[in-house]
Amino acid sequence: MIDIVPAFEKQQAELNAAELKALLSADDLLDWYDRHRRHLPWRSDPFQSADPYAVWLSEIMLQQTTVAAVKPYFTKFLKLWPRVENLADAPVENVMQQWAGLGYYSRARNLHSCAQHVVKYFGGQFPASEAELLKLPGIGPYTAAAIASIAFNIRAVVVDGNVERVISRLHAIETPMPAAKPTIKHYADKLTPDARPGDFAQAMMDLGATLCTPRRPACALCPFSSGCKARHLGLQERFPIKAPKGVRPVRSGAAFVLTREDNTLLARRRPPKGLLGGMLEVFNTDWSSAAKADLYRQENVLKDAPCEANWHYMGVAEHVFTHFTLKLDVFAAKADSTMDVVEGYCWIDPALEAFPTVFKKVLLHAQK
Ligand code: ADE
Repeated sequence: MIDIVPAFEKQQAELNAAELKALLSADDLLDWYDRHRRHLPWRSDPFQSADPYAVWLSEIMLQQTTVAAVKPYFTKFLKLWPRVENLADAPVENVMQQWAGLGYYSRARNLHSCAQHVVKYFGGQFPASEAELLKLPGIGPYTAAAIASIAFNIRAVVVDGNVERVISRLHAIETPMPAAKPTIKHYADKLTPDARPGDFAQAMMDLGATLCTPRRPACALCPFSSGCKARHLGLQERFPIKAPKGVRPVRSGAAFVLTREDNTLLARRRPPKGLLGGMLEVFNTDWSSAAKADLYRQENVLKDAPCEANWHYMGVAEHVFTHFTLKLDVFAAKADSTMDVVEGYCWIDPALEAFPTVFKKVLLHAQK
């Protein structure tokens, strides 16, 4: 009979879990990183520690956002505010305006507050300790560990979504997320070396982003392939195991775009706290549950318009937030020049101001 099991797989099949684990080596990953790492604007060369301000800025921007989306913002921020002192001195409205489009706006407010904190209490030097970093505004456990290791080369266990995927595959962790997090952290800790912890953290992120991808991972190129339990089982894409998804609720409301002859439009800044805190918005109603909004629409949504005008219905602008989907009915009208400004609102030039993405979508609908 012809032996159809390739020699490598046959050898793998004979390995037990402990033997597999012994094949996982941080050095193999670091060798791979030295050859294949991504060149990103906030990164230093291997073996070099990086500018803590740049590392912090990039890590705050990268929370919930992709590397591709962050790159132009990172470059722009460093150009506008090359040092933490410059950022601390900038008016918070400018920072919010430059952040517009990156989403999760409380991050921008915390970024500014953190810069002021570092200047006031640390003389403009970020503290070189995970515990001290954790006390700063906007810095949670992941970010504190990432900054400590990347900027200061302190050994810290850095676990983001990419690292979770890599570790859950290396050990074929059967517990669904997020319950598996402590187990993942335990294995990540075991794998983290004393030497080059910052390079190791970034190598894990790059491995997850480029080879150990959610679908069709490139295992043949992976420096961990001989010790990966999921690969050994032929079940790479099964991990990490996800908890069954809840359905994202839908909320609805209406947005009113009132424009004057000179193209300025009626807008205001949202209150500083809460969702989209401090960002610009056009006049809009409460965002209630979709079912409630259907009833309300039948009653006559225009009774909540900011003023009487020749309102035109322009369609639905849809935006997905983390915890709900928002559907806004968009109405547009031209303002009468004699009209009083609605209290708390003013006329702004949309070409000069930055709206968050949800209201950019509303404005696009209003132009149709
Ligand atoms: N995602 C979060 N931090 C990162 C980093 N330093 N490099 C690449 N991707 C990241």
